[in-house]
Amino acid sequence: MDLRAGRFDGQMSDDAAKFSSSIEFDKRIFDADIKVNRAHTTMLTEEGIIPKEAGEKILAALDKLEDEGIDALNLDPSFEDIHMALEDYITNLIGPEAGFMHTAKSRNDQVCTDIRLTLKDEIENTISNIKDFITTIVNMAKENLDTLFIAYTHLQHAQPNTFAHHLMAYANELRRDCERFMDTYKRVDMSPLGSAALATTGFPINRKRTAQLLGFSEVMDNSIDGVSSRDFIAESVFDYAMLSTTLGKIADEIVIWSSYEFRMVECSNAYSSTSSIMPQKKNPDIAELARGKSTIAYGELMTIMSILKGIPHSYNRDLQEITPHLWSAVDNTNDILQIVHGMLATLTINKQRTAELAGANFATATELADVMVREKNMPFRTAHNIVGRVVSDAIEQNLKATDLDDEFINKAAIEVTGKPVNLGDELVKQALDPALNVKARTVQGGPAPSAVKDAIKNMENFLS
Ligand code: ARG
Repeated sequence: MDLRAGRFDGQMSDDAAKFSSSIEFDKRIFDADIKVNRAHTTMLTEEGIIPKEAGEKILAALDKLEDEGIDALNLDPSFEDIHMALEDYITNLIGPEAGFMHTAKSRNDQVCTDIRLTLKDEIENTISNIKDFITTIVNMAKENLDTLFIAYTHLQHAQPNTFAHHLMAYANELRRDCERFMDTYKRVDMSPLGSAALATTGFPINRKRTAQLLGFSEVMDNSIDGVSSRDFIAESVFDYAMLSTTLGKIADEIVIWSSYEFRMVECSNAYSSTSSIMPQKKNPDIAELARGKSTIAYGELMTIMSILKGIPHSYNRDLQEITPHLWSAVDNTNDILQIVHGMLATLTINKQRTAELAGANFATATELADVMVREKNMPFRTAHNIVGRVVSDAIEQNLKATDLDDEFINKAAIEVTGKPVNLGDELVKQALDPALNVKARTVQGGPAPSAVKDAIKNMENFLS
């Protein structure tokens, strides 16, 4: 079977054939291509568009190919793509009747139908893997409701927190990543099949039937749009890029937290490397690579957007160049997801250290100001100024938050406002206790164990 035999005499040059062949990355759509040919042939037979016997022979040959797998195909680049290699296989098996299969079908609608079908499975798989990761995170959070932790802004000590609350931030980000995929899925789940080259066909095909056979929720309403649109790919790759960002941020925190200066967590040996010269080293290489690789999807997205920009409707061969970048984003992000999931699940948290850090470096100062507002009916800005002075005096005298008492605070208050605050030692002690700081933050979305429990419940509803 030679596609060129009619129009041309002579073959494409070897370099042009190699340059233009999509066979290598078409392997990804092999299964989908069988399904699409099967659905199309079934419909053509049902509608009486092709002879029943020819249809049956084609379907039997497709079944045989499915059993034998992709290795049964001749994947020579001179075939341009998998669609031609598949047609060649059927033709070798049943003869020229194989040609009925291509009635009212073009590779233009075939390829984007294949990609959509394959991508639907990929997205479903990614959604399920994200949900598994969230489940792990929720279970870890349940075990760490009271595990004190420090929260940063600008990577500077900010306020006391719990490990559970920090973990649930991950869970909520991942939930949105998941929901983004769920929404994108609707726009992937549309059948362009029947658009043919660009203008449908004069044959009375039944597009609803092929969509139904392939499990698509709807048929695309415009055949030009059907063959030329790849926004479903750009959108999906954005979703993968965004998920990569979430995962890269988690990996980044694992790198920081496991450094000697932080010592908040320790990576499992299974996710660590050592140095070829420094025998003492335990390096978080896997987390670093997850962080580094999380940028790959951004590049793929930019490439895809650049190809899409400024090509006219409808099918242009440029579109072929988009597909490998889609699979690269999918595969890289899935790898990162698996690695970051494994790494977080096996992380050891140094609870003594995180508790120590939770109260260190005046992280409880906001609560001290809040207590002044609450107990003394003081405007927050005045309390903020007094506590700011308390902290600077304490730093000057080399004191820690836990060294401070009512007298010390009154001195600073007099310096700032001319009056003492008179909180009493007990209230001061409570305000400066990191565990009580956390417990006080019971509002929705806060770190208090009661609030985190509610957040966990919401997350479990999402997961169920
Ligand atoms: N391999 C092509 C692609 O991935 C599909 C075939 C369309 N080729 C063509 N010459 N019209 O987009």
